[in-house]
Formats: sequence, C-alpha cells, structure tokens
Amino acid sequence: MAREQLRPAIRVAVAAPYPEIVALHDSSTEYADDVEVCGMISSADAVFDQTRLLQPDVLLLSDELGVDGADTLARLTALAPNTKLVVLVGRGQGRAPVIADAVLSHDAPAAELRAVIAEAAGRSSHDAAPPAHSGAQPDVPASTVAAQRARTVVVFSGKGGVGKSIVAANLATALAKEGARVALVDLNLQYGDMGVLLHLEGHPSSIETVAGDGQTVDAAVLEGAMARSAEGVRVLLAPSSPEAGDLVTAANLEAILGELSHHHDYVVLDSPAHLEERIINVLEVADHILLVSSFGITSVKDAKTTLRLLQSLGIERDRVALLLNRTRPRDSRSEEEIARALRFPVLTTLPYEARMDESVDSGRPLVVTEPGGGFSKRLRVVVDHLARQRDSAPAKASRHATSWRLRFGR
Ligand SMILES: Nc1ncnc2c1ncn2[C@@H]1O[C@H](COP(=O)(O)OP(=O)(O)OP(=O)(O)O)[C@@H](O)[C@H]1O
Ligand SMILES: [Mg+2]
Repeated sequence: MAREQLRPAIRVAVAAPYPEIVALHDSSTEYADDVEVCGMISSADAVFDQTRLLQPDVLLLSDELGVDGADTLARLTALAPNTKLVVLVGRGQGRAPVIADAVLSHDAPAAELRAVIAEAAGRSSHDAAPPAHSGAQPDVPASTVAAQRARTVVVFSGKGGVGKSIVAANLATALAKEGARVALVDLNLQYGDMGVLLHLEGHPSSIETVAGDGQTVDAAVLEGAMARSAEGVRVLLAPSSPEAGDLVTAANLEAILGELSHHHDYVVLDSPAHLEERIINVLEVADHILLVSSFGITSVKDAKTTLRLLQSLGIERDRVALLLNRTRPRDSRSEEEIARALRFPVLTTLPYEARMDESVDSGRPLVVTEPGGGFSKRLRVVVDHLARQRDSAPAKASRHATSWRLRFGR
C-alpha cells in the first residue's frame, strides 16, 4: 500500500460537557492521522476564551453545553478568524447556535463526523496532501530516492527497561548478518548501553566527536568516529559522560542522520525512554518506529500514551510497529489482551530468554549466539517486516530537513 503523505492534522477543539458524547473516534479510527483534539472545553463560559487561546481549525460544539445565541459564529469569528464552527445537535434544549459552518446530529457515526470536520476545515479525503514537509526533491523519482536512502528505524518506548537496547542491538546485527549496510546510533545521550551490548567499550570516539558543528557534519570525521561491531554494524556510540550528551543538538542529529542515510541501507536508532525535543524530532522523521512494550501494566499504559502522542504528532499508523517483549519468565497477560487494550496490532512478541544476561555480559547479541532460539526467530519477523516495507514504499529521509526546522526552528 502506498504511504500517505504527511499533512498537518486538523486541530479540533471539542466543547462538550463530557468528552464521551462526541464520537470522534471509533475502533477503526482510533489512530487516524488527520484529526488532532487540541483542547477540551467543558463549560459554556469558557468557550469563547478557550477558542481565542487555542485558535483551532475547527470548534466542535455540542448543544448539550448550552451555548446560546445566533451570534455565536460571529463572536467566534471575531476571536478566532480561521476557526470553523461545527455544531452537534439532538441532545440539548434547542438552544444551540443555528448559524454554523456545519450542523450534525450527535448520533452521526464517527466517520461522518470526521468527514464533516474535514470539509469544514477545507479538506476532503480526496484532497491532494499539501506539501507540509516539502523538503522532498520533486524532480527525483521516488524509486531513485528509495535506492539512495537508508531506512531510519527508531526503537522507542515510553517506559524504561522494556528491552529497547536489546532489540536495537539484535535488530541491527540481524540486518547486518543479512548483508545490509547498517548504522546503529545510540541516542541514549546520557547513559548509552550500546558500547557494552556490542562489546565496543574500548572505542575512543562517540557521537560527541561529531557534535558541535551545527547543521553540518564532516563525513570523514563521522566515518572515523564510528565503531564496528563483530558482525559489521557501524556504531555511533553515546558520549563518554552524561554531561557531554548536552553538546549534541537537534541540528547535529539531523546532519548525522542525513549523512548516514547516504551510505547505509538501515540506520537503527536506540532511544531513551524519556521524551525530549531531539527524540521527538527523530520520531517525526523516522521511516519506522518500533514501539516496544513489556507485559507489565505500567508499560502497556505508557505504550498507549505513546501511541496517542505519535498520533498527535501526525505520524502515520503504518510507520509504527508494536513489539511485545517478555522481559520476565512469566506474565499473566496475553498478547491478545494487550493488543486489545492498545487497539493496535502486535507485530511480534519476543519471548523471555534465560540466556539474555549471558549474551549481554559477553557483548554478543542473541541473534549471533542463539540464532535458532525463540528470541532470534521472533525478531526475524521484524527484519521481514522492514524488508517488505522497503519494497513497497519510498523512504522518508528526503523530507527530513524541512520538517525538522519547521517544527522546532533549530
Ligand atoms: N526477551 C528478554 N528476555 C530476558 N531478558 C530480557 C529480555 N529483553 C530484555 N531483557 C532484559 O531487560 C533488561 C532491560 O533491557 P534494555 O536495557 O534493553 O531495556 P531498555 O528499554 O533499553 O532500557 P532503558 O530505557 O533503561 O534504556 C536487560 O537486563 C535485559 O537483559
Ligand atoms: Mg536502553
């Protein structure tokens, strides 16, 4: 399936006494990428002030809130000239403003409501996507871009200790064993583990070596800074000390990833559990986000929050793959239970591996020491997934530069 292009989500403020009465999402649109709820307004008094502050694309106003008056649209237009008013009727006392950009029944299905919102906002599902992140090279055919650019794969979780670094080290190694040119970047800029996991602790340079040059990176210096694992993965290690991590800016990362993407088939990024601007930037431009969760209830809750965050960043659902990792020998929850709770399909479940500690201590990934074991076999599903996606969709990397700067201005 062709990848949908990125376009900014329609920002909708929902004015209703309680959010559940506005059926914006149903199970099939839970992670739709075109509408973002930017604010909830739960009292009639706050509608005008909040709309002025939020300046949403669309104000979705329930008649149950009891906002009076035929002049509502005019007042809103004065406060938020670009905001369209969509009114939901059928539950209030007949006092809802009758002049609106669109009026719809509360009972309308989510899909219809979303269509009305899109139309009010001047979008339709048939619109060509505007060039929201228009750094692409228009005269370069997609197939050429795909051939030249690496796929960027971020391994991420909202919770620490769920196995991100283990997955990143094993995935990069598995891809390299297949013959791919693989770069692995440790984005745990304060406490990186990749040196230990791949037995590269003695390597003298790290991402710190190439930090500080703003938006450029010297290709030769970058090349020299990278370590090489036993299986041929080129690794850019985390800085030697936590404070040195601050030297790496969003612009540095952009330059580094851009350079690496020219010379590799895959750039795998291990990430910290906490969110910060640099990591959000990377999530936004990645071709694939592997969201890792363990079976623990807090991890599942954090995965749910992360899925919402990715949705609000406008990241398409097909860029995200969910990996469940059994970090403990026994878990009471099943894969199906978690997929249901997250309303997101599980790409693969990685089994608990008793020899994991041995693998970590030896600095040799399980895909090398136990290639026929359960963990390596289930990780293979991820390798195949990436290969399939590679065949079917062009790389995103050419859009990097513009989207990065547009959002954060660095
Ligand atoms: N499938 C598994 N079987 C057994 N142990 C595992 C498995 N996956 C991870 N572990 C263990 O869980 C611990 C945490 O793994 P890891 O360091 O990869 O997590 P992380 O998500 O990168 O953590 P952080 O957010 O702190 O960077 C490690 O001790 C690792 O050996
Ligand atoms: Mg880690």
